[in-house]
Amino acid sequence: MKKLILLLATTPLFFQSCQPAKEQATPVGQDQVIEKKIDELIAQMTVEEKVGQMTQLTLSVLCKDSLGASPQLDPQKVEKAIQKYKVGSVLNVVQNTMNRDQWYDIIGTLQTEATTKTKLKIPVLYGIDAIHGANYTVGATLFPQELALAATWQPAFAEKSGSVTAYEVRASATPWNFSPVLDLGRQPLWSRFFETFGEDPYLTTEMGAAMIKGYEGDSISDPEKVAACMKHFVGYSFPFNGKDRTPILMPERLLKEYYLVPFERAIKQGALTLMVNSSEINGTPVHANYHLLTEVLKGELNYQGFAVTDWEDIVMLHTIHKVAASEKEAVKIAINAGIDMSMVPFNYKFSDYLIELVNEKQVSMERIDDAVRRILRVKFKLGLFEHPFYPKDRYPKFGSAEFAQASYEAASEAITLLKNNDSILPIANGKKVLVVGPGANNLNTLNGGWTHTWQGADTSFHTPGKKTILQALQDNIGKDKVTYVEGTSIDKDINTAKAVAAAKGSDYIVVCLAEEPSVEKPGDIQDLNLKQAQKDLVKALAKSGKPLVFVLSFNRPLIIHDIEEFASAVVMAYLPGDEGGRAVADVLCGEVNPSGKLPFTYPRRTASLYTYDHKFSEEKDIDYNFTAVNSQYGFGQGLSYTSFKYSDLKLNTAQLKGSDTLSISVTVANTGIRTGKEVVQVYTKDLYATITPSVKRLKRFEKIELKAGEQKTLTFKIAKQDLAFVGNDLKWITEDGDFEILVSDLKAPFVYTNK
Ligand code: BGC
Repeated sequence: MKKLILLLATTPLFFQSCQPAKEQATPVGQDQVIEKKIDELIAQMTVEEKVGQMTQLTLSVLCKDSLGASPQLDPQKVEKAIQKYKVGSVLNVVQNTMNRDQWYDIIGTLQTEATTKTKLKIPVLYGIDAIHGANYTVGATLFPQELALAATWQPAFAEKSGSVTAYEVRASATPWNFSPVLDLGRQPLWSRFFETFGEDPYLTTEMGAAMIKGYEGDSISDPEKVAACMKHFVGYSFPFNGKDRTPILMPERLLKEYYLVPFERAIKQGALTLMVNSSEINGTPVHANYHLLTEVLKGELNYQGFAVTDWEDIVMLHTIHKVAASEKEAVKIAINAGIDMSMVPFNYKFSDYLIELVNEKQVSMERIDDAVRRILRVKFKLGLFEHPFYPKDRYPKFGSAEFAQASYEAASEAITLLKNNDSILPIANGKKVLVVGPGANNLNTLNGGWTHTWQGADTSFHTPGKKTILQALQDNIGKDKVTYVEGTSIDKDINTAKAVAAAKGSDYIVVCLAEEPSVEKPGDIQDLNLKQAQKDLVKALAKSGKPLVFVLSFNRPLIIHDIEEFASAVVMAYLPGDEGGRAVADVLCGEVNPSGKLPFTYPRRTASLYTYDHKFSEEKDIDYNFTAVNSQYGFGQGLSYTSFKYSDLKLNTAQLKGSDTLSISVTVANTGIRTGKEVVQVYTKDLYATITPSVKRLKRFEKIELKAGEQKTLTFKIAKQDLAFVGNDLKWITEDGDFEILVSDLKAPFVYTNK
């Protein structure tokens, strides 16, 4: 292990930015007032106090053993953690969702203990996984999951989701949120696919930056804002075998061109906390990777915040990854690699070992001081010293109708119409609808994991009044017009025969196909196919001859290839959150004109997994024709109840030189009979390059609304850095040569020269 770290440490560094020039936030380390306060604190701190700041425990360690519905802090355990071990951070939940009183009680007690009963009075930094809303607080607003937000192609929705979540998390006395996920969803087998903004680095970067803006606003000291946590640094989402927390095999070139990009932007924006990838990349666990954590993250990217481990990941360097012969060696490796805070989370061994290691000079005081400085910087920036939490009655908008409306609007713009033969949708007035399937009358399958509980499968914490798809359809078209027969659970027949019998009396059959909510390891799958019971339900219903409308609530794109032909219409709902039932029903009934676009490539078959920006060689089929990439639905696709026509794609020059700007204009017209929204997507195509080029890459997008008959001309600008890729020397490079701009089915050629 030692050798490997040394080897990585000597790897040359060539990281350069390729992001479009954005206004750079004031480097966070330069707030001199705060830095001086940190100096003063560090000067007074013992090694035990410093190590305490680097320690994060899970809440249950501080609670009484018998956990009822109201978890109780155990005063002796709290004293041991805060006074004896000087623990600086606590995370998570005990009994899943708690009400605001419980949160205030628990966090209030911890903050009082830390700020009145310790020498230095440093407040605790409490962190929570508020992944799609304050999902561990009773009555909070639950937004669509990230993948659905990405499908809106409107960063404003990610920002809104972030700002409402920040408000409700702070209204739960918590200042730190382990979100957003900035991993790219390029491996559909992965259980956390729904937590990503999809497969594209540019879309992810834009959505991620907007969500962080929502969480943090202009200052995280704002009582309605929280510190965001970028995760999981880096490459976590691309396990070779698809299973969570298994090896990633990826050249650094690719890591930099794709996976680092959203982090780079978020860091420039000023994000100050980051969680580390639990897996290994090319044989080195990221928690042990000095090169990535110290040289790249803190060096080249100039990250001034702190790096927290993921769950128990230092211990796992010993127990799972086997790069450390003991838990103590694991601590040494991780801290020396650049970890600042350990999500321990169950005991005090990390603290004991780290104190020993410092005393033995195996970990330098300089490294410890650097970690503590980064952690204290966040505590100061959050204003925790002045306000460990704010009064509970300061948050009148918690769980309000206004917030629910914001979630509804996001869900409405996410829902993606993937197929609509003969304009079967929207459902015509006065028609009778049979609703079937495991997703029909189910809030859990609309919300997915990280909903009231970790796996999101418990029904006991549902917010009263939130509508399932069935209930919302009944509201829209009348209970007398809607028949409900479940048909199947996720994987078992319940009463398919009854559903088939009910089909006779209906004009439409809405089949709500779904996947069991899950996250992380429990979400690993053996098969990307939709469960057979649901396919059998579809096949049985198809015999009725009635038009079938599929509504898909999946954690990832489950294969539906062998039943898709039976669908007249397909609606991708993603995991649209607590208002998703209403949004789906409104799309089905035509009250909302769908405008979502897929943020990933929907595969047709389990052994044909591609992204839209694949290489030309991937298109070659067994017959040597270039037809291998034949996805079920393409990235960026989504239909509307109106139609759009693109024309007049023009460039300001056919010869882009040096750092000049290429101006791209295109006209989009609504050629249908109703108002609709369209996402105008601009791609580049590099015809030849020294590293095999992708068939195309997304560079800009904009969502516009057009009335029937209206048209708009849009202008986009790109420049040299938008044509760049990472070469084998790990430097970003823009090569001279032929390029094309692609917008919808139009293309325009140009040449780039560096002179
Ligand atoms: C997950 C993280 C999460 C953390 C804290 C881990 O298992 O990978 O995404 O933030 O737990 O709950």
